[in-house]
Amino acid sequence: MFSAIPLSLLLFCHYNVQAAQQCRLQLNGNGGHGVTPTPSATTSPSSGDPTSAAASASASATPFVPFQYGTTPVRGVNLGGWFVLEPWITPSIFNNTGNDAIVDEYTFGQLQDPATALSVLQNHWATWITEDDFIAIAAAGLNHVRIPVGFWSVPLTAADTNGSTSVAPYTSGAWPYLLKALQWAKQHDIHVVLDLHGAPGSQNGFDNSGQRTSTPEWSSSPANISRTIDTLTFMATNIGGMVDVVELLNEPATFLSSTYPATLRQFWQDGYAAVRAAAGLGNQVMIGDGFEGVDSWTDFLTAPSARNVLMDYHEYQIFSVPELNRSFDEHISFACDSMADLTNFAAKNIWTVVGEWSTAVTDCATWLNGRGVGARWDGTWFTPNTPFGSCDGWTGSYSTFSSAYKTFLRQYWEVQTMMGENVQGWIYWAWKTESADDWSYQKGLEGGWIPQDPTDRLYPDICS
Ligand SMILES: *[C@@H]1O[C@H](CO)[C@@H](O)[C@H](O)[C@H]1NC(C)=O
Ligand SMILES: *[C@@H]1O[C@H](CO)[C@@H](O)[C@H](O)[C@H]1NC(C)=O
Ligand SMILES: *[C@@H]1O[C@H](CO)[C@@H](O)[C@H](O)[C@H]1NC(C)=O
Ligand SMILES: *[C@@H]1O[C@H](CO)[C@@H](O)[C@H](O)[C@H]1NC(C)=O
Repeated sequence: MFSAIPLSLLLFCHYNVQAAQQCRLQLNGNGGHGVTPTPSATTSPSSGDPTSAAASASASATPFVPFQYGTTPVRGVNLGGWFVLEPWITPSIFNNTGNDAIVDEYTFGQLQDPATALSVLQNHWATWITEDDFIAIAAAGLNHVRIPVGFWSVPLTAADTNGSTSVAPYTSGAWPYLLKALQWAKQHDIHVVLDLHGAPGSQNGFDNSGQRTSTPEWSSSPANISRTIDTLTFMATNIGGMVDVVELLNEPATFLSSTYPATLRQFWQDGYAAVRAAAGLGNQVMIGDGFEGVDSWTDFLTAPSARNVLMDYHEYQIFSVPELNRSFDEHISFACDSMADLTNFAAKNIWTVVGEWSTAVTDCATWLNGRGVGARWDGTWFTPNTPFGSCDGWTGSYSTFSSAYKTFLRQYWEVQTMMGENVQGWIYWAWKTESADDWSYQKGLEGGWIPQDPTDRLYPDICS
């Protein structure tokens, strides 16, 4: 879409073929952990440029200490809505376009002036998450962030792929901000799951893949899949040494077609091999259950033929009417009942992290189901006759939350962290939202239903 190189890239990265390395962080050697990452650029970086991560990389000498998976529980938050926009996380960004047809990051780039899209996104990338967030995340006793990234933010060149490098109509330019985030993570002892959240063609059709569509193409397009592998190779090569975990793809929706499950199995194997070829054994490689349940992945990518593979399991109980119809107690029992199966899978196969979950108990957050789409909860989507009543008091500002609701939020937070720590840990969705406090870890800390110390338990026997 951009026939000219965006100005921002010239400013931040001196983005031409020769100096493109300045946008990258590389390791000497094979990308193994315990090695101090050093920028590969030898040309003088743009000193004084606050977004030049490569510049600051040389200034920080803290060695990268690998996380002890399986010994220390992963306790983390997702930096959702940062490098992959979601209308419900930042409704103002979508509202401000004044165009109801802009419903995801794809249409955000497609249906407005590119310079406007770029300038709004640059402001968002620079402000949605800052170093202060990493400080607050560390102060909340957390040890991980999971950072969702779209393929359009990964600056492949013609040397990196035999396929297309065009990202049209997406807006590129987030990469330097990601590099900066990796620096902050290291400086504040936060470990990183680098999560490819949006693949070419869309792996699930959700707005959170970048493209809300009823005809996602990824799983049926060999070109999209090989481009995804090239994207993973690029990420592992260039920043594998700055992250603990490379997650190959978020939420591939295998229920979409009969051939998708087999395609996904092949992709996990090829993606694992690509990350290993690019960066050695240093990274954990994370796969997901593809909505099949973890038990479909018995004996898959297990040792000794594969090593350091993690399973990402997501737990939400709000995306169908029967789940929404569960009482508070039933939501808690469901989480308790999930534990045995997850624990058994993780013990016999690969270590498992509950990589997305939340305390939200309704689908009331504005635009959670998509921009302009209502909620099942109050009958504004799908289900007529307000099956569960009004959305008032369930989302938005926590000043409207009852004390009974906040007590439940604490219990639900505890039981799900317990579920995560029964396996190898948990990563909450999401660290912050513009206005849906029921989803916000930050607001939970402020409102008191999430403890400052994540090992605090008010309800240690909640499952007994
Ligand atoms: C969008 O903007 C309108 C007009 O300013 C406002 O009434 C509405 O609440 C906004 N919606 C969201 C989701 O921000
Ligand atoms: C591109 O194609 C050539 C020739 O088939 C092959 O050797 C090379 O590995 C390919 N490069 C990538 C990045 O796939
Ligand atoms: C995904 O695949 C389709 C069909 O093969 C192709 O038209 C499209 O350009 C690909 N998308 C990207 C972003 O490479
Ligand atoms: C919720 O479950 C109850 C039974 O426990 C049932 O009577 C009711 O119809 C359900 N409500 C909805 C909206 O499905």
